[in-house]
This record gives sequence, C-alpha cells and structure tokens, in this order.
Amino acid sequence: MKKMMILLSLISLGATAQKIDVNKQFALAGQQYMRMLADHPDTSKTIHSAKPDGTYRDLPSSWWCSGFFPGSLWYLYENTKDVKWEKSARLWTAAVEKEQYNKGTHDLGFMMFDSFGNELRLTKDPHAKKVLIQSAKSLASRFDPKVGLIKSWNSFKGGFTYPVIIDNMMNLELLFWASRETGDPTFHDIAITHADNTIKNHFRSDYSSYHVICYDENGKVLVKKQHQGYQDESTWSRGHAWAIYGYVTMYRETKDKKYLDFAQKITDFYLNHPNLPADKIPYWDFSAPNIPNEERDASAGAITASALLELSTYSGAKGKRYYADAVKMLESLSSPAYRAALGENNNFLIKHCVGAKGLNSEIDVPLVYADYYYLEGLLRYQRHNKK
Ligand code: GLY
Repeated sequence: MKKMMILLSLISLGATAQKIDVNKQFALAGQQYMRMLADHPDTSKTIHSAKPDGTYRDLPSSWWCSGFFPGSLWYLYENTKDVKWEKSARLWTAAVEKEQYNKGTHDLGFMMFDSFGNELRLTKDPHAKKVLIQSAKSLASRFDPKVGLIKSWNSFKGGFTYPVIIDNMMNLELLFWASRETGDPTFHDIAITHADNTIKNHFRSDYSSYHVICYDENGKVLVKKQHQGYQDESTWSRGHAWAIYGYVTMYRETKDKKYLDFAQKITDFYLNHPNLPADKIPYWDFSAPNIPNEERDASAGAITASALLELSTYSGAKGKRYYADAVKMLESLSSPAYRAALGENNNFLIKHCVGAKGLNSEIDVPLVYADYYYLEGLLRYQRHNKK
C-alpha cells in the first residue's frame, strides 16, 4: 500500500514536472554563442544565417534581423545574470543604434525593440529609452492616415506603391511602448488603426492569412499576394506565426477582447490544420505542394511557441491546450531533430528554417530569429512554471 502511494505521487509529480530543462538549454546556448562571438570579433555586420557553402551570411545593420542577435544575448544575460553576456549584448545592441533614424523600413520594431527594448527592460539605461523613442517616431512616419496602415515596403512587383505585409503586426509593440513612455496617444492610435485594418483585409473567412496586401493611396485594396510563401491563396507559415504573435500582443497592450478572440481564431487555424505535423513544427507553407516531402520552418515553430505561452495565460480553459501545444513545440525544438549540437549549424541554436522557398532563398538553414524566439519561449516557459 505504501509503495503504491509513493508510486502514485511520483506519477502525479511527473505529470506536473517541467518537461524541458531550461537552464540546461541556456547553458548549451551559452557555449554555442561563445563560439559565435569568437567567429565575429567585430560588430560591423549583423549575424543572420549561413550560406550553402557553409560560411556565415552576415548582413548590414539596416537588415530587418539586426536586433535578434543582440536580443538573444540579452536573453542569455536574463537567464544567467552573467555580466559577460551583458557586455556582449550592449556591444551588439550599440551596433544597431544608427537605425533609429531609418525611415525606409517598417521593421524598426524587430530591429530596435528586440535589441534596445531588452536593454531597457533589463538595465533601465535611459539612453536606450531615447533611442527607442526616436525609433518609434521613424516607424510612425510610415503611417499614412488616408490609407490607415503603416507602409511595409516602398514598392512591390507589379508597380504597387503601398504594400503591407502581415509581418508588420510585429512592429506595433514599439508604438504602444512609445505612447506610454511619452504620453503621446498618436503612436497608440496608429497601432490600433493598423491592426484593425489588418483584421479587415489580411485574413480569409477560415482565419488563414495573406502575406502581402497592396493598397492604393486612399486605402483601397488593389491585390492580395504571396511573396515568401507558396501561392497567393496559400498560408505562409511564418507569416501566420507573426500574425498570432502580433494579435496576442494587441490583447496584452489594449485588453480589448476582440483581439484575444481574433488571436485565438487564427491560432486555432494553425493548430487544427491537417498539415501541421505531430511534432507541431510546420512546413514552410501550410499548402506547400509536396507535403510531406517539404522543408519545415522551425522559425515559425519558435515564434508560435513563444506566442502561445502568453496566449495560454489569457485564455481560461482553452489556455490548457495552447500551453500543451506550446510545450510540445519547445520540446521538439529542444530535441536533436532541431537543436544543433555544439559547434554544428554555424553555431546557431536551431536547425531547419526556411527564409523564402518561393524565392529560392534560405532553404533549410539556421535563421537568427528562430534562436531569438526559442530562447524567449524557454524563458516564458520557465516563468510559467515558477508561478
Ligand atoms: N519579416 C520577413 C520574414 O519573416 O521573413
């Protein structure tokens, strides 16, 4: 009887015990990123991916991904409290600073909030605050009230001059922060208008998403297109992951239930899709033509895992499913199927990502943002289990 009681309590402990050893994963990440830093003695080019010939694909700070490597260094610092990571994170964050004046891109949220935003959160450095306010001003300059959306790119094939991509949802968090910080409601209002028009035009009735919507100068939809995914009427997996993360953020920032409801609906499209594999890491497009013989996009898996961990906390009974699926995604990403061994994968953490198969670019490679959202997801998972 006593033995049976011990067994039962062990089983119930097992059911609630953490499935992923977050500190172990961070220790591995630290070793891998020490190698990455040793290979990159200067910060003039930002760490992005690897080329087919096995060399690094490093790009200038104006590239939309320049905030992710510094952001990952900040997450390493957050987990370990080791000052060596703070030192590296400050150095790599400073390398992005000049982009605060860049009005040629909508990606300033990614670039500045993942670098300087994490610096501010973890160090309270007033300089980071100044940089972020200027970044929000530059981003807001791309909003035209007649269109009601932030312009993503300056042009798109076919002669379109006001393209908006679903990824743009990720840049709104910077605007909410700027409104709170400055007391100026303009940033907040831009974010709301952009998100509402995106709900109106960027989704189909089954809550799947388009990648690119091209508008005219009065905000009329001209065409709905694909760019990085398979076809105009398919759903590009990472684009949909950006949408999920973006509307979870909208709910966090506004507490307006309409965004929570919408975040849940687009999440359910993703989780219930018949083409989502058992390990919950999607193919690069939900309708890629040769599934199951298509590449996975682990970056979409990492972004979604992190978003679902937050969504689970807002979703009552439904939250259990979001949490369980997020944990499954993180478990998959932490397994040798996706998690690089020491020294492998050009020292990135996550393998098997796709940048844009439709453009024959970055197919089955590491991508710096997969690492960033994987580390963020691990931290959220750890916080969730400490509650
Ligand atoms: N924001 C571009 C991408 O997700 O590839």
